[in-house]
This record gives sequence, structure tokens and C-alpha cells, in this order.
Amino acid sequence: MPPLLKSLDTDLVALNRDRLPQTIAAKTRRFYDVISTIYPLSSYIFHARAHKVALEMAGVRDGMQVLEIATGSGEMFRKLVKANGSGKTYGIDISPRMAARTHKQVRQDFPKAKAHCHAVDARYLPFRPNSFDAVFCCYLLELLSRDDIILMLSEVHRVLRRNGSFSLILIGSNESAFFNGLYEVAGSIIPAFWGRQMQAEGAEILRAAGFHIQHEVLVKQSGYSSRVLQIVKD
Ligand SMILES: C[S@@+](CC[C@H](N)C(=O)[O-])C[C@H]1O[C@@H](n2cnc3c(N)ncnc32)[C@H](O)[C@@H]1O
Repeated sequence: MPPLLKSLDTDLVALNRDRLPQTIAAKTRRFYDVISTIYPLSSYIFHARAHKVALEMAGVRDGMQVLEIATGSGEMFRKLVKANGSGKTYGIDISPRMAARTHKQVRQDFPKAKAHCHAVDARYLPFRPNSFDAVFCCYLLELLSRDDIILMLSEVHRVLRRNGSFSLILIGSNESAFFNGLYEVAGSIIPAFWGRQMQAEGAEILRAAGFHIQHEVLVKQSGYSSRVLQIVKD
């Protein structure tokens, strides 16, 4: 074997021994890439109302530095860019197709806005510490393993300025046994799409990551419930 390949091979063996946190990120990226053209429908039917509430609760003012993590097909991102016309709005999503679609639409709809969306993994944010006044993240935590949630929250904590606003939307978990049962079945069939519902551990992980929850509102749309959390960096 050529020396370069041999050293690569040794590195791969070492990597396998030194196992990274369990994650389904690669599967999630592939899955959301495939459904990127039909995803907007699901976002309008189930998420639009919760997006609106999160935006109102965060009190985004024009001129801010705003980040949205896991934009999906960009329904919330466009609301943020509209509210922050002369500020800077960044979006990221692990699925290259979702990010490209969001970027293209926002460039078409708001050609003068300083708004960009790129394919980036939320566990490793390419921004300097204390860069943002407000960070939004809707329906992502359910798709991340506990280790990945901790990595992602520590990145949010790093890039958000002190007393900055963190808006998080989680899927509601304590409303109806029917909804919870349906979610459990769907999540066990396609975990990379549905993930799993977050119970009380959401609040516990947030506190451990250096955040505190200021307000929490339950929003329902089309039989689907969402928990909208307004959080502050301590
Ligand atoms: C359920 S969708 C939510 C989309 C959008 N936030 C909304 O409110 O409709 C989850 C999104 O998270 C993205 N995602 C999953 N894992 C990610 C990661 N590690 N980093 C960034 N985005 C991720 C997926 O590609 C998908 O677009």
C-alpha cells in the first residue's frame, strides 16, 4: 500500500476506536435533502402559527444581528429577514438543498437585505463569539442525540451575546395521548425525519448550558402542538 494510503488507513482505525458521540446527523441530512421541495407544505400546515408567536415573543427590532439555526425551507427565515430589513440575518441548515432553496428565495424576495443561508451543521457554528442579538431554532432538538444537543447548545451560548434572546420551538409533548402515541410510532419508523419528543429534559439541558427560560407558550395548529420558549443567555 502507498505510504499516504497506509497512514490514512491507520488514522481511520484510530478514529473508529476513538468513537464520536452517537449521532444520526448524516441520515437526517440525506432525508431532508430528499424532501426539500415538499417540506414547505408541512411547515405551513403545522408550524406557521408557532413561528409567528416566536417572532412576537423575541421582539426582533430592525438593525439586529440575527441567526436562524435549521431553517428548513425558509418559512421562518423569510419572516426574520422581513422584520430585520436593515440588519444582518444569517441562516444555516445541515441539508444543502434546504439551505440553497432558502438562500435563493430570500435573495429573490428581499434583494437588498443582508441575508444569507448556508449549509452548516448546528454543532459547529462558523461565527465569532458574541456575534448575535437573537438566535432562533425551530423543531431541531427532537432530531439530535443528547450529545449533539449539548454540542449545539454550547455553540448557541458561544455565538449569542450576553442577555441575547434565544427562541426555541419544540414539539408539544403533554397535550393528547393520541398525538403522543402517533408521534412515537412515526418516530420509530423514520427517526431521521420525526426524531423523538423532548420531555422535561429540554429545560434541564438548557439550564445546564447556561440559559434560563423566561416564557413558554403552547401553540396548536392542525392538531399539532408546539412549545414556544423564550430563553435568555445568563
Ligand atoms: C423539522 S425541520 C424544521 C425546519 C424549520 N426550522 C421549520 O420550523 O419548519 C428540521 C430541520 O433541521 C435540519 N437539521 C437537522 N440536523 C441539523 C444539524 N445538525 N444542523 C443544522 N440543521 C439540521 C434539517 O435539515 C431540517 O431542515
